[in-house]
Amino acid sequence: MKNLFKAVITTVQITSLIHILVKYVGNIVQCSGSSMQPTINTGDIVLVEHISILLNNIEKNDIVISKSPQNPNNYVCKRVIGLEGDLLYNNNHISKGYVWLEGDNKTNSLDSRVYGQLPYGLLCSRVIMKIPVNTRYS
Ligand SMILES: *[C@@H]1O[C@H](CO)[C@@H](O)[C@H](O)[C@H]1NC(C)=O
Repeated sequence: MKNLFKAVITTVQITSLIHILVKYVGNIVQCSGSSMQPTINTGDIVLVEHISILLNNIEKNDIVISKSPQNPNNYVCKRVIGLEGDLLYNNNHISKGYVWLEGDNKTNSLDSRVYGQLPYGLLCSRVIMKIPVNTRYS
């Protein structure tokens, strides 16, 4: 009985540790869509972390996963093209607390060029690397 109790406690602890790790540290995500081609292709699995977003440490050229400004149930993967204060094409500056995201596939990406700058608060995670698994043959 005592051992069972211990096992339950340990399981709960490990589960919360995993929960905390996934929430604050990192996670893996499978991407779909062609808007980040040729950098990220459909089926690619990427390693992401949340710390940089929490610490406000996002830089230009980072690839991030953000909630879609058009549908908060969807996530988009884009590259950070501009940060607050940066000059935009139309001679305007990005507002405080906003970022400008674009896909790498300029001819096929729904991004800030369509919906404008988006709130930093929509950003979820930063892509660290592509995990080299060939999902096409698995
Ligand atoms: C951009 O997306 C289109 C449509 O999916 C695709 O045909 C094209 O090859 C992509 N471009 C790049 C550079 O991957």
